[in-house]
Amino acid sequence: MPGRLSNKVALVTGGSRGIGRATALAFAREGAALIGVHYANNIDAAKATIREIETLGSKAVAIGADLRKGKEATDSIKEQFKAAAIAATGAPSLDILVNNAGIAPATSLAQTTEAAFDELMTINLKAPFFLIQALAELIRDNGRIINISTGFTRVAAPTHPAYAASKGALETLTLALAPEFGARGITVNAILPGVTETDMNAAWLADPQARAGAEAMSVFSRLGNPEDVADIIALIASNEARWTTGLSIDATGGARL
Ligand SMILES: NC(=O)c1ccc[n+]([C@@H]2O[C@H](COP(=O)([O-])OP(=O)(O)OC[C@H]3O[C@@H](n4cnc5c(N)ncnc54)[C@H](OP(=O)(O)O)[C@@H]3O)[C@@H](O)[C@H]2O)c1
Repeated sequence: MPGRLSNKVALVTGGSRGIGRATALAFAREGAALIGVHYANNIDAAKATIREIETLGSKAVAIGADLRKGKEATDSIKEQFKAAAIAATGAPSLDILVNNAGIAPATSLAQTTEAAFDELMTINLKAPFFLIQALAELIRDNGRIINISTGFTRVAAPTHPAYAASKGALETLTLALAPEFGARGITVNAILPGVTETDMNAAWLADPQARAGAEAMSVFSRLGNPEDVADIIALIASNEARWTTGLSIDATGGARL
């Protein structure tokens, strides 16, 4: 049976690890033709993800760019993606863009330096903005733009104020862009994971008390795993989700309901 993403071409930023890796693999399981696996520095993790994608029968290519470099990085991603897509499919076109790469430093208002604030905003907000701008002309009709936010836009996060603000702005951007892309049948949505077991959280979840507290947040009394979130992303990427756009979609396992 053909998958829900047969013949689709996707690009996942931060596809080397965590939620991005699980998303790239979910897309491969759904039959995507080509998946761009973007990474910052961890080429080994990107290559490992690519090998898993290829085992599932899809093509994949590594695309390296440090998003701390802002537009220079997003322009580089565009050029790398175009060359890879032409080589693999004969066209520079893209169907699904997932803006997933991000950082989430736990720094309070008082602890946040200007440099740290600027870096966070560059990776989490500026890079998705300019990547969408750069790739807009390559995204085919009825395509998908999916921005990965956080449940911290829905509940107060005094431990992560700058992070929460960066993702709140990403959700506002999602809403603002939906009409423009809607003209071509392209949906623009945000997905909001809750605490998900990835490298991002490994250090604090190693503390049993912190882990128990995180598990208790979800109505399912457990942590999310990357596949829990990736399956929702794959659903929004599919044709079945064509009639929903401009939305911020909860993927927290019912956290703090
Ligand atoms: N995990 C959670 O609990 C959780 C909850 C809510 C929202 N989220 C959001 O979900 C997304 C993925 O999180 P995750 O937990 O999967 O993260 P992760 O496991 O830490 O992986 C981060 C990914 O982003 C890439 N990345 C980090 N800094 C980058 C930079 N400067 N330039 C380019 N790429 C960079 C990494 O590339 P390298 O492999 O090359 O380092 C990696 O692929 C993030 O946007 C995060 O805010 C996560």
